[in-house]
Formats: sequence, C-alpha cells, structure tokens
Amino acid sequence: MKNVGQLIVNGSVRAVDADPREPLLFVLRDQLDLIGTKYGCGEGQCGACTVLIDGAARRSCITLTGAVAGKKITTRRRGCIPARPYCVPDNRGTR
Ligand code: FES
Repeated sequence: MKNVGQLIVNGSVRAVDADPREPLLFVLRDQLDLIGTKYGCGEGQCGACTVLIDGAARRSCITLTGAVAGKKITTRRRGCIPARPYCVPDNRGTR
C-alpha cells in the first residue's frame, strides 16, 4: 500500500511519510509537531484528539491517515478549540 505523502493541515499542504493505516493523531503529533492534538484514551471515547475533517469533528486517534488524504484537516491550535466556529481560548496551555 502506498504511503500518504501530503496532507492539507490548517490551510497548508504539509509533507508527511505515513502508512495510510496509521492513526492521524500520531502523524499530526510526531511528524507535524501539532501537539495541541492530544492523546487521551486512544479509543475514540474522550475527545482529546478531536480535529475537524472538512469541517466535521472527528477523533484523530481512530481516523486512518489514508482516509483523510486530500481533505482539509483543522487541528487545535495554541489556545483554540477546533470544534468551535471561531477561536476560543481553552486555557490549558495547548500548542
Ligand atoms: S484519544 Fe480519546 S478520543 Fe482520541
């Protein structure tokens, strides 16, 4: 299976080298240093890893990277919660 070579993240095309079966969460954190996307339960239950995929909230720990190639991914940014239509400080010191 061909690796995923790029993702559209926070409005930019970012180069990655990821197995399409790898959870998106680890690609965001380990390859793109987007550590505001947190690991919690790893089972799609807690919401710590939530990102927006084409505007819909998804748990990145159970979303395969290959399933989001070509889609717009929006992550939690410093002081923001991605599931809101605007930036809301979350006061947790995330990045
Ligand atoms: S880490 Fe808990 S839902 Fe993804």
